[in-house]
Formats: sequence, C-alpha cells, structure tokens
Amino acid sequence: MNFEEKLKNIFPIHNKILTKEDKENLLKQRGVVLWFTGLSGSGKSTLAINVERELFTSGYLTQILDGDNIRSGLNKDLGFSEEDRKENIRRIAEVAKLFANCGVVTLTSFVSPTREIRKLAADIIKEGVFFEIYVNAPLEVCEKRDVKGLYKKARAGEIKDFTGIHQPFEAPENPFLEIRTDQMSINEATNKILRAILPLITYNK
Ligand code: ADX
Repeated sequence: MNFEEKLKNIFPIHNKILTKEDKENLLKQRGVVLWFTGLSGSGKSTLAINVERELFTSGYLTQILDGDNIRSGLNKDLGFSEEDRKENIRRIAEVAKLFANCGVVTLTSFVSPTREIRKLAADIIKEGVFFEIYVNAPLEVCEKRDVKGLYKKARAGEIKDFTGIHQPFEAPENPFLEIRTDQMSINEATNKILRAILPLITYNK
C-alpha cells in the first residue's frame, strides 16, 4: 500500500482545531471576559490595569482591550454615533472572544453605554464567559475628576454625543459586580474585583 492510500482513512487528531479547553489545560486557567462598563472617568481603565497587574503577578496570562487604544487602532474608522458605538463594541466583543477562547483572562474597558450594546457583547461572548463589571461613580464625580478634560470640552460644545452629557448612560440592571469608585479606594476596589473573579478563572481539574 502506498503512502497516500494509507492516509486516506486516517483523521489525525492534530488536524482537529484545538478547543478552548485544550488551551485552558495548557495555561492552567479559565478564559473569561471581564467586561468593565461605566462613564468616562469612572475608573474602568485604572481598575482593569490594576487587576491585570495583580493577576499577571500571580501567574495568569491576561490581555486588556481598552477604549482609547482600540479606537486608535482596530477601530480608528469609528466615531461616537449610535451605529459606530455598536460596531465598536461588536468588533471588540469578537476580539475578546478570540482571546477568551485562547484561555486568556481578558479585561475590556469600554463605556458601552446602553443595555442593548452590552447585550450585543454578551451574546457574542456567551454566558459563562462574559462577566459584567459596572464601574459606578456619579456623573458629578466623573466630571469633577475630568482626567482627560473631555467633560469640559463637552460642556463647551467642542465634543458632541458625549456620554453622560448629551447621550445617556444606562446603568446595568444585573451586573456580575458593581464597584462604587467614589466610595472606596483603588486598592479596595481592585481587591473586591480579584476576590470575585478568582473562582471564575481558577483551574481545577
Ligand atoms: S463606547 O461608547 O463606544 O463604548 P469607548 O469606550 O470606545 O466608547 O470610548 C470612550 C472614550 O473615548 C472615552 O473614555 C473618552 O476618552 C473618549 N471619547 C471621545 N469622544 C467621546 C464621546 N462623544 N462620548 C464618549 N466618549 C468619548
């Protein structure tokens, strides 16, 4: 029997696409998406960065997807109309899903202002992988912080469609976790998130 004939009815296992579980077994962790949502200036990115650092130090492989970074690369063709925000979140959710499927603890930090938009992301990423973290600080507090000076510009009419000023932010109804960043320190908030997510990402097989 020649070589080709021998291979005809053979379906080697390595020809099958490796699964999420295969990757998780390699990394000894669970791939999830921690979806931080909240007003600009609420503390999403700060918390995502802190949580990522702690996880990484503990030996977890992580990836942050952050509003300003993605909007200057992958999504630089998109603005802040309702349609563009939807497309922004749709693409991010697809990318986050790829990372999670690779077993990576993925932290996304986007305003994602409406329930519809967050549902779009949740439906792409799927239950059991998508975990919504509502980073909550009152508008007055975010506006007072005005880390990027954008609230001032929005009030002055230099930016349109700004979330919280011209466009609503719809609070999540049933988030996995809510963090009041006006009522606790960054360290306290980071620890609260870590306590909640460690059971989700811990590998036990
Ligand atoms: S989202 O609504 O589509 O989820 P995303 O998180 O990507 O928004 O981007 C929000 C960031 O872009 C804000 O933190 C802010 O720095 C900047 N930004 C610029 N213009 C706007 C705007 N009109 N509304 C909200 N954020 C804006």
